[in-house]
Amino acid sequence: MTAAANEDGGDSEKSRFRCLDAARYVVAAAVTVLILAVIVTAIKVVLRLDSLQISVHNRSINTIPIMSPPEPEAALVLELQLRGENPSGRVRMYYLNITAYLFDNTTSASASTDPESDSVLFFKLPKDIAVLQQEAVDSSLNTNPPVKKNMMDPLYFDMLYNGSRFSDMTLRLDGNLVTEVTSEFNRTRPTTYYCEQLLVGGNPNDDASKSSEDVVCKQQRSAAPP
Ligand SMILES: *[C@@H]1O[C@H](CO)[C@@H](O)[C@H](O)[C@H]1NC(C)=O
Ligand SMILES: *[C@@H]1O[C@H](CO)[C@@H](O)[C@H](O)[C@H]1NC(C)=O
Ligand SMILES: *[C@@H]1O[C@H](CO)[C@@H](O)[C@H](O)[C@H]1NC(C)=O
Ligand SMILES: *[C@@H]1O[C@H](CO)[C@@H](O)[C@H](O)[C@H]1NC(C)=O
Ligand SMILES: *[C@@H]1O[C@H](CO)[C@@H](O)[C@H](O)[C@H]1NC(C)=O
Repeated sequence: MTAAANEDGGDSEKSRFRCLDAARYVVAAAVTVLILAVIVTAIKVVLRLDSLQISVHNRSINTIPIMSPPEPEAALVLELQLRGENPSGRVRMYYLNITAYLFDNTTSASASTDPESDSVLFFKLPKDIAVLQQEAVDSSLNTNPPVKKNMMDPLYFDMLYNGSRFSDMTLRLDGNLVTEVTSEFNRTRPTTYYCEQLLVGGNPNDDASKSSEDVVCKQQRSAAPP
């Protein structure tokens, strides 16, 4: 009886220790999970802060008809002002090697896998965009050389040349977003922006064509390289 009671006591002692061990593992596992969650959240915050914001000033792309030398030929100069804003307090950002594609409202700018032929017109931006920590930079851009009829959809060329305006066009920007994480390390990612509902066409001095609101472009990053 006594022996049995002792044994019982020993057993419950052992199982109590086992319980304690198990509890320790549970706590350790919980702490590990918690630490991982904190790390993942921190990485997410850093990545979110590392996003360059781009917007189109006045929602507008102006088109100016000109006669382009050498033998005078009808051409268009496109004018737009892009604003790059860097929300990060830590890193410099560069948006490099940018190609701009203009889509009309019959084609999805994001679904297009061949934007050169699906767009109304495309051109290489003459400048890169470089933005220091917590700064905003405005870049005024002109197509140079001017766009000739054979470089774009000829129907749109005629309409824009003759002063028509479109209120529902999308500008797609394809480029490389470079984040200077430290002074020794740059991270580069192909990044696309979509600037929707733009007013395209018309004279910059024509008040009726102007909007005073800017359009913030939606960003789409490609999957991280493997
Ligand atoms: C720049 O973009 C063009 C496509 O427009 C691409 O062919 C070229 O490889 C890019 N250059 C660099 C340095 O990424
Ligand atoms: C529009 O401009 C073009 C110049 O590319 C001209 O050839 C054409 O006749 C004009 N069309 C109209 C309807 O004015
Ligand atoms: C597309 O744009 C054209 C010209 O601006 C307009 O007439 C037409 O209604 C638009 N279509 C849609 C579906 O928004
Ligand atoms: C990062 O890229 C930018 C733009 O190309 C360049 O000016 C800068 O020197 C690079 N920084 C490093 C550390 O490579
Ligand atoms: C943007 O719109 C404002 C207000 O309509 C106008 O004063 C300004 O000149 C416009 N900026 C450009 C670059 O067209």
